[in-house]
Amino acid sequence: MKIKLIIFLIGFSFFGYSQKKNSKKSVAIKPRTEFVSDLLSKMTLEEKIGQLNLPTSGDITTGAASSSNVAKNIEEGKVGGLFNIKSVQKIKEVQKIAVEKSRLKIPLLFGMDVIHGYETTFPIPLGLSSTWDMKLIERTAQIAAQEASADGINWTFSPMVDISRDPRWGRVSEGSGEDPFLGSQIAKAMVNGYQQNDLSKNNTILSCVKHFALYGAPEAGRDYNTVDMSRIKMYNDYFPPYKAAIDAGVGSVMASFNEIDGIPATGNKWLMTEVLRKQWGFKGFVVTDFTGIPEMIEHGMGDLQTVSALALNAGIEMDMVGEGFLTTLKKSVEEGKVTMEQIDNAARLILNAKYDLGLFHDPYKYCDEKRAKTEIFTAANRAEARAIAAQSLVLLKNNNQLLPLKKSGTIAVIGPLADAKENMAGTWSVATNMEKSISLIAGIKEVAGKNSNVLYAKGSNLDYDAAFEEKATMFGKTLHRDNRTSEELLAEALKIANQSDVIVAALGESAEMSGESSSRTNIEIPQAQKDLLQALLKTGKPVVLVLFTGRPLVLVEENETVPALLNTWFAGSEAGSAIADVLFGKENPSGKLTATFPRSVGQVPIYYNQKNTGRPLGNKEGKFEKFRSNYIDERNEPLYPFGFGLSYTTFNYSNLKISSDVINFKEKLNVTVDVTNTGNYDGKEVVQLYIRDLVGSVTRPVKELKGFQKINLKKGEKRTVTFEIGIEELKFYNSDLQFIAEPGSFDVFVGTNSSTVNKVSFKLIK
Ligand code: BGC
Repeated sequence: MKIKLIIFLIGFSFFGYSQKKNSKKSVAIKPRTEFVSDLLSKMTLEEKIGQLNLPTSGDITTGAASSSNVAKNIEEGKVGGLFNIKSVQKIKEVQKIAVEKSRLKIPLLFGMDVIHGYETTFPIPLGLSSTWDMKLIERTAQIAAQEASADGINWTFSPMVDISRDPRWGRVSEGSGEDPFLGSQIAKAMVNGYQQNDLSKNNTILSCVKHFALYGAPEAGRDYNTVDMSRIKMYNDYFPPYKAAIDAGVGSVMASFNEIDGIPATGNKWLMTEVLRKQWGFKGFVVTDFTGIPEMIEHGMGDLQTVSALALNAGIEMDMVGEGFLTTLKKSVEEGKVTMEQIDNAARLILNAKYDLGLFHDPYKYCDEKRAKTEIFTAANRAEARAIAAQSLVLLKNNNQLLPLKKSGTIAVIGPLADAKENMAGTWSVATNMEKSISLIAGIKEVAGKNSNVLYAKGSNLDYDAAFEEKATMFGKTLHRDNRTSEELLAEALKIANQSDVIVAALGESAEMSGESSSRTNIEIPQAQKDLLQALLKTGKPVVLVLFTGRPLVLVEENETVPALLNTWFAGSEAGSAIADVLFGKENPSGKLTATFPRSVGQVPIYYNQKNTGRPLGNKEGKFEKFRSNYIDERNEPLYPFGFGLSYTTFNYSNLKISSDVINFKEKLNVTVDVTNTGNYDGKEVVQLYIRDLVGSVTRPVKELKGFQKINLKKGEKRTVTFEIGIEELKFYNSDLQFIAEPGSFDVFVGTNSSTVNKVSFKLIK
């Protein structure tokens, strides 16, 4: 870990390292190892085990902290941290119990799922990844840390870096898509944003990378389902973002729910000790996911005592909610199933984190009520969120430059997502204030201004099936189901549609149709809305489809029928304003997909960095060929490839050059390309570089992203973009899991998305 070791200067009474309160003379607290060793030597076995216990705030969130069950456990030294408790006052009250009433006065960690912002909410992670802008992404995590820490939180369960190539899985919304290279850059940016490489500050928080590991590859896309993957695929395609977070100094890791090689991650010693600690050198602590330990009983790994010992032996330090450690570890020590040394080591890692956060110096470091009043959901943070959200939108189609819209005439805004502030923040936004989110209709009214006449109708419910809508709008994310019949809703919509110059159709998924436990087998827009869209198109008015989604959807029909399609994900608390900024051209869309959009759910898993196979279809795409790798009822190619996204302007690529056609293992070469803004607007373009390793000791993907640059070009401006390629870009894990490069020929593709065929070639020699 690169977290600075801090020598705290104290003026605070604590643990006998104290001076008088407010004493001007301060003494240095002992260095971490010594401090924690001293503390451990004073702790009973029960107190050590207590540090490994992470309950939820439970009744504390609803009742008086001091009389709750959790409070009693805190007093007895049986709690190491708490999570999902919101408000600085409550946290302060609970911390007070730990540092005033427990025997050793050890402060608590306060965790929360601060996933894409705190009260100021940014786009869902899949949306954020579509910005391809590492500075912006880091900034979102920094603002999230600033706000969360001002409200008492010192630990976030983020980033979620699980690679996924399966849009049926609802949690694709929480990750950064399908690519290990991009995913690694984002993992690093997020960790840096939260921790700022300095946990001694009061506005940085401990980050927790999750879900280790491979959680994004469940069979059939069904959440929590079995994962079965070759090691070579793990190392090349799924592990890199976790490793990048470790390399960036992340303080903690969360185990995933799934099994790996037949052993649940929570009890998997190979994963938690061999890979994480020995191969990657991780020095922080590992926490289970929610009830990860008792779930191993259901996995069929034994009773609670057995699975708790299994987890500790595997290399888990903290038990989230399961209470397996709390209730069985003492017995397991007595019976020789785990050792005292293991318990000491686990407790040490958690105490180390508390030390690094400065909690032994000041347990109330994050409990400054003044900060809570002035640093959360500020106008400045919201303005940044609005600008960042605009960059996450992906323009998928724009025939005849229907977009941007004019700020005049009559605009009919129609659809169940148009007036849906509760859904704007998207999934996993526990701290957001849904009531304060900006709906699309509110954003359009604000941005379109006085010269436009903005009309609204709901048009349809989320789906015909009310029971489905209930499952899809949990946690208060209601769409206010309308009791009128579908015909009545449609008639009202058609009435305003017919009066309008343009129709903005706000359709797609509700926020809770993606996220945890929201897997889908049908990844289309729900039928009620598809029918509404077709009825709107029949009016003959131009229709802009503003799509809300937490996953890649199958949009074949929409792509064929609507002239303009803007994918907005769930863009956060400022979503409505940001979308309107893009619709009316204040912002030019620049987002690019980080996950492939299939043509059919039957193509899943579908991803750009696939293998060639022995019977590739090659450039015969679109025509079925017997005994080639293709379908008799569908094309191979996706609807929208990885890296795809349009702009209001156009970009031309020319003059692709390579500085040398041979390099050895020590040399580097440059690849240059000229990019010209040939359209009528200033705009941003993500220039993407892919390589193909043509011959290997193991089969290699047809393309792999190895570089990208987001550039801003004024109308008419031309820029030469340069990428450097060296041995690091050419390495991969071979069948012995060695990270190596092999001599041979490589193709280099540069272009506007992963389907580019614009290429140069070179040879790597020894
Ligand atoms: C999720 C985690 C989350 C945890 C704590 C679990 O259900 O899988 O991502 O951090 O709950 O809220």
